[in-house]
Formats: sequence, structure tokens, C-alpha cells
Amino acid sequence: QAIYRKDYVAPGYWVDTVEMGFDLDLDHTHVATRLTMRRNYDSAEKDLVLFGASLKLLQLRMNGVNLKKSAYTIDGEIMRIPNAPDQVVLEIETRIQPVKNTSLSGLYASNGNFITQCEAEGFRKITWFPDRPDVMAKYTVMLRADKKKFPVLLANGNLIEEGDLGDGRHFAKWEDPFKKPSYLFALVAGKLVCQEEKYRLQSGRKVLLQVWVEDGNLDKTQHAMDSLKNSIRWDEDRFGLELDLDRFMIVATSDFNMGAMENKGLNIFNTKYVLANPRIATDVDYAGIESVVGHEYFHNWTGNRVTCRDWFQLSLKEGLTVFRDQEFSADLVGTVTGRAVKRIEDVRVLRQVQFSEDAGPMAHPVRPDSFVEINNFYTVTIYEKGAEVVRMYYTLLGHDGFRKGMDLYFARHDGQAVECDDFRAAMADSSGRDLTQFERWYSQAGTPHVKVQTAYDAAAQIYEITLTQSCAATPGQAEKLPFHIPVAMGLLDSAGHDMPLYCDGYENQAGASNLVLELTDATQTFRFSQVGSLPVPSLLRNFSAPVILDIEYSDDDLSHLLAHDSDPFNRWEAGQRLASRRLVRLTKAVQQGEKLELDQLFIEAWRSILNDESLDPSFRELMLTLPSEAMIAEEFSVVDPQAIHTARQFVRATLTQHLRADLLRTYETYLTPGKYSPDAASMAKRSLKNLSLSYLLEWVDDSTLALALTQFDEAENMTDRLAALTALTNFNGSGKQIKQAAKALKKFYKEFKQEALVIDKWFMLQATAHTTDVKTICELMEHPAFTLTNPNRARSLIFGFCNANPSRFHAADGSGYILWAELVIALNKINPQVAARLARSLDRWKKYPEHLQKKMKAALGKVAAAKNLSKDVAEVVSKALAA
Ligand code: ARG
Ligand code: ZN
Repeated sequence: QAIYRKDYVAPGYWVDTVEMGFDLDLDHTHVATRLTMRRNYDSAEKDLVLFGASLKLLQLRMNGVNLKKSAYTIDGEIMRIPNAPDQVVLEIETRIQPVKNTSLSGLYASNGNFITQCEAEGFRKITWFPDRPDVMAKYTVMLRADKKKFPVLLANGNLIEEGDLGDGRHFAKWEDPFKKPSYLFALVAGKLVCQEEKYRLQSGRKVLLQVWVEDGNLDKTQHAMDSLKNSIRWDEDRFGLELDLDRFMIVATSDFNMGAMENKGLNIFNTKYVLANPRIATDVDYAGIESVVGHEYFHNWTGNRVTCRDWFQLSLKEGLTVFRDQEFSADLVGTVTGRAVKRIEDVRVLRQVQFSEDAGPMAHPVRPDSFVEINNFYTVTIYEKGAEVVRMYYTLLGHDGFRKGMDLYFARHDGQAVECDDFRAAMADSSGRDLTQFERWYSQAGTPHVKVQTAYDAAAQIYEITLTQSCAATPGQAEKLPFHIPVAMGLLDSAGHDMPLYCDGYENQAGASNLVLELTDATQTFRFSQVGSLPVPSLLRNFSAPVILDIEYSDDDLSHLLAHDSDPFNRWEAGQRLASRRLVRLTKAVQQGEKLELDQLFIEAWRSILNDESLDPSFRELMLTLPSEAMIAEEFSVVDPQAIHTARQFVRATLTQHLRADLLRTYETYLTPGKYSPDAASMAKRSLKNLSLSYLLEWVDDSTLALALTQFDEAENMTDRLAALTALTNFNGSGKQIKQAAKALKKFYKEFKQEALVIDKWFMLQATAHTTDVKTICELMEHPAFTLTNPNRARSLIFGFCNANPSRFHAADGSGYILWAELVIALNKINPQVAARLARSLDRWKKYPEHLQKKMKAALGKVAAAKNLSKDVAEVVSKALAA
């Protein structure tokens, strides 16, 4: 059932042009397609091969002649026409049922509108087609529909004609001037309104920008529009890449499986990544919109102009585009700290989610060798680890070197469907560097460990750092070869200053205090001379490679780095190491029933960060945030979620007990009265203020409770309201206090009943509260506002609970797993992609104690045995069970 990268065969036929006519009707849509095709003489495939799924085939004509049933075969999704001539005009008519399509892949209905999602293999649910990314063609699309129900008709490219059909129906004809693979096809039809603007490119050319939303949401499109304009300018400035169309559209839909989709000229977005105003969206939402709008826009070059040869190369476009959107967000803030804050946030996700994926049954290389269902491979490994791999080129080649590589990549491959190896070749050839070994980042799964040993010879003033790399086995890969790992580093003297670095083999860098060591062997020793005193090493600065650094620091070393490291990332890292060490010790103490204690050194370290006015408040917020329960879990071979939760809560409460006055002062200092603005400086203030509030409620009294209640009642923006409500939903107080807090939750619902995205937050908040158990979740599922068919809603409550409330989900009685199995099975019938995501909540079942393992295995077994299991879910649970 799996397909393999090594089995790639070029398509037997190319498609030059695609003409499509849609008669749009929610129940039955008629699709007529005309393809001009020609034989690919270089292919071993001699048949004309098409893919189709859930289609009613009405007509099939080749070169004007109806094809008899005997002239072709259909096996599952594959149609083969043997003995076709070298030049073919294929005419296909199909009928599809958009309202019945709950998978949200292909053409489907959302609130009475038509939406498409064709990546990865959704186009085959619209018509028979060589639905693979290396078949690129020019599309012309005619849309016809009822004028009242579907006043707006959109497709890729330029509108070339529109008009009335006389019978209450109208039409619009769209032409996309660029060749594209079928996964970039899109159409949208329905009742929509738009914010639009003429925008002047740096070349002087004017383009039309539009953000389309459902009626009533035009007060929420400004930020998406601003983000789009920023994206267009950034790609011109940083990469010299211009928008190639006269018109660029964004459409928001509330029914969407993922974040958004980069369809050529017609990006379709989850409303979550478009709609924002101060009343309904938080600072985090604003940042998410900026980065996703950027991401999809940047795909126009990295993904659309240069696309993937096959889906094994998915990271070619996704890793690169994530890197680009990360850089975009960092450049927009611009400051050194701003960049560091963004970097830390990205690395947090990588470590918490991707490292965990790399250590579990679904571990796969950045360029996988096989898969059963491609939709299961839109993963943090393809995206976030893929972005780290691109970032390593950037680190190795430097800013200008990387740009040269990008330029060569486009010069060579514009208009082509290529492989990850082609990108690496462009980087190597443009810089003259040997990047042969670097290929292992694409082929080998797993997170490498880099162990550090140091030696100092005071008399000779020689300091040596020995780095040893290793990588654990992953499914299908028992042995790993050494990776090419860039290790950015510095050495701190006792005053906290960076020392000049004189490292053997790095002559050119003599005197610089920042160096990128290149670790390529299993073990390598780097020798530094003129080291006048014993330094504290600062390694993997700015997280220069996606590895786990095993280094034994003393508390004093960490305090030194925390106070002085010139690299902000490693400053943050030192604090996290200090915290993590204590959280692990305390978790063990909880398990042993020992007395819990927090040392003065740690409390004072946190106090001095909190009060350090020289540090940007957003940076302080990150530093003062303890490692998440999921991060702490990674430190254990057997995970005890309840003990981890107890230990972490103990540290939060103890810190608050000691730092109450400091926290109160900070809270007051960073109040942001006045009009809401999502700029970096105001966001930073809000984040530190709200962190202070969340700590204050860990050691609550009536006065701090009042602070939270007042903030909830009086704040005029969602960031502050939600922060207050979150604190109010999670604190440990008296019965009377809890009652007051519960009122806030009710009020919030009433106030925002009409705002789906806010109601998602309302469910999420409860799903992740420590007081929420399986019974509460079941009650919430009965709430009239809950539905499993909307992915955002399902994710907020169900994924919130299964993925972000570990101490409750992993209840000792196994009730969480039973609920999980029921929901995976229910979702499987509705939407296999969403079901398969949920199925992954039990990936790491081997990491839990025996009694939990048994119950998880039973739940996995129950899902595996369910009737009509989709490929999507079957792949995930069978891999989990094979672990
Ligand atoms: N290419 C899109 C993005 O990263 C993601 C679409 C994935 N959709 C899917 N059904 N697998 O922006
Ligand atoms: Zn993408």
C-alpha cells in the first residue's frame, strides 16, 4: 500500500492546456474538462494515466471519439488508457457532489459557498487528471452558477470575461497565464465581499490586491491586507522576487483542514489566519496572520514558480517557505531582541513537536522514502525541520552566499518541478562548497545528539572542545552516518565578555568572537589557542542546528551564561536549562513523595530577570516562562504526566510566593492603556504584563483575583481579555473565588456567541484547563455550539484536550484514551485528514508506564479494527502499533 520515492517514473504524457467548465450546484456540479496532451518520449510509462476519486464519469472522449469501456481500465484511483496516440485531446465530463464532501478536499461547500482544496491530491476529486505535481499546464476556467446564490465567481489568474446567462445564472471566465501543477488549481464561488486595493510594485507596475470574506467580516481584514503588502515588499527587497500576476486574491473560509493554501493568485485561508480586529484577535493571532499570509505569498516563487517533482520532495517548497516566513517576521520587527524572540518561539515548537515526532513511530526524513497517505506527511518534520535545514545553508554560506544560491536556484529551475537535491546543488555550485555530506539532513530521520567535552591547559593557554555526534535508530533506519553540523559558538571569560577565537583550521576567523564550527565526523576536537583563562563555552548559538546538545554545565556556568551571553538565544537557553534541571528533580520528588523545595539561586535568578529593565519585556516573558510539561516529559524515559504537572505548578506557585511584590510592580509598569496596536513594543508589554498576571494567580488572594477580574471586565482588546480569562480558568482558589471566575467564562460566551473564532478560544481554554477531565469534555461536546464537522471547532476542544492537557488526558483509568478512540473513529467517517491528526495523539505510547501503555494499546487496537478505516488513519495507527 505504501509508495516509494525510488519508484518514481516520469509521466507518460504531458498536459499543455486545460480548459474547464463548471456548472456549479451544491448538490450536483457538472465538470467538463478538455486536455491537450502529448506523449513524453522519455518516460518508461507508455499508457496514458489519469487519477480520479469519488467521481461520476459521464463522458470520456479521445480525439473526438467516445471511448468504449474496453478502451481503458480503472483500478481504484487509477485509469489507464493503453495505446493512446502521441497527441491527444481528451474530453472528460464528470459529476460531483460538493455538499456531501465533508473531507474538505476537492470541491466542497462551506456556509453555502464553494471552496476548493487540491493539495496534495484533491484535484482528482474534481475530474480525471494526471494529478501529480510534475505535470504542469496552462488553465482556462469557465464558471457558471446561479447569480443570487453565487454572486462572486473566482479562479486562478486573471478574469478575462464575465456576463449574464439570462436564466438567472451568470458566468466568469478566468485564465492563469502561468503553467501550474493541478494541486495549485482553485475556484471559489458564493456570497463574499472584499477589501481591495491597488498596490504599486517597486517596478512601478500596479496590481490589484483583494481579501475576500463572508458578509459581516469586512471589519476584520485590514491586518491581512497589511501583511500581504508587507510580504510583497519584503520578497522584492530581500530576494529580488516580484509578484508575477496583475491580481492577487486571498479568500477566508471557516471550513479548512489546515492553515492556508497557496493556489496561484487565489490563496485560500482558514479564517483563523485572516480575520482580526482588536476585539476578537490576540497578539498571537495577529502574529499568526502575518506569518501565514507571508508564507502563502512566498510560495508564489518557492512552490509555484519552482515546484516539486513528486510529493517526497514536499520539504523543497515547505521547508524553504517556512524559512522565508520566519525571516520575514524577524525582519519586520528588525531589532536584535525581536529577532531572538522570534527565533526562540520557533525553536520551542521545533523541540516540543518535531523532536517528539522524530523520536516516535512516525519519524521520517525531511525527504521521506515512502508513505501510504501523503496528507499524513504535512508534518513538523517536513515544515519546521525542513526550515532548519534551509537555515543551516544560510548559516554555512552567510547572508550573501545564501542569496546567491537562491538566485541560481531560480535561474536554473523557474517553471520546473524539481527535487531537494536541485536546491542543494544550487547552494553548492553558487558557493563552490562541497555539500555532499549535507544530503544526510534530507535522507536520515531522527534528532542527532551532540555531546560536548572540554579540556583546558592553563599553562599552554589551550582550550579544547570535543564534539561527538550520534543519532538513535528510527523506523527503517537502524544505522546513521554523521551529519554535517554547523555549530555557532563563542567563549565567555569570567567577566562575561566574548573572547577572541583562534581556532586551528579556522585561520580566517582569527580574532572574531563568533565562529561557526563544522562538525562532520563522528568525533572531532576543536583546539583554541591564546585562551588566557578558563572560559564558559556558549555553543549552538542561535540554535545553529536542529540537534540536542548534551553538555554538563554547573549551575554557576548557567548563571554566568544567563547573565552575560552576547547571544540572546543562549541566554534564554541557560535559563531553560536551570529550570529544566529543577523540574526534573522535583518531578522525581513528587513521585517519591518527598518534600518539594525550590532553591534560592533559582528564585533570585528569576527575580533578576523580571526586574532587568535593560531587557526587552518580550524577551523577559520568554525567559520567565518555564519549560512546558511536554518539554519536561522529554527528559524522562518513562513519563508521569501528573507528577510533571504537580512539579511545574509547585515551581510556579513558589516563585509567585517569593516574587509577589516584583510581579505586582511589573504588572503595573507594563499596563498598556489606550488604543490597541499590534506593534512589537506594545505586544511585548502586554506579554510580560500578562505573564505576571498568570503567575500572580498561582498564589492568589482577593486582591490579585480582583486584578484579573477587572482586567477581564475592562480590557478592550482580546489579548488582555483572554489572558485574564485564562488565568481565571486555571487558578487554585477558594470555592467563592472559583465561582467568581466561572461567571467570567459564561459572560465571555454570551458576548462572543457570534464570533466563531472566539468561541473556538472558549472551548480551547476549557479543554486545556487543569480542572477539565474527560467528563467535562463530554459535557462540552453536548454544547449546542460544538460540532465535529468543523475542523477548527474539533481542534479547539478535542485536540486541545488530547494534545495540550497531558495530566488529564492521561488519566489513570484510561478514560481519555477511550474517548480518543471514539472520536478518531467518528472523525474518520467525516474527515480522514483531521481524524489522522487526532490519531497521532497516542504516537508516544511507549514512553508511558506499563499500566497506561496497555490501555493506550487497546485504544489503538480499537481504532485499527474499526470498519471503513481511511488510509490516513490506518497508516498512523498501524505505525504506532508497530512501535
Ligand atoms: N501548502 C499548504 C501550506 O503549507 C498546505 C496545504 C496542505 N493541505 C493538505 N491537505 N495536506 O501552506
Ligand atoms: Zn506551505
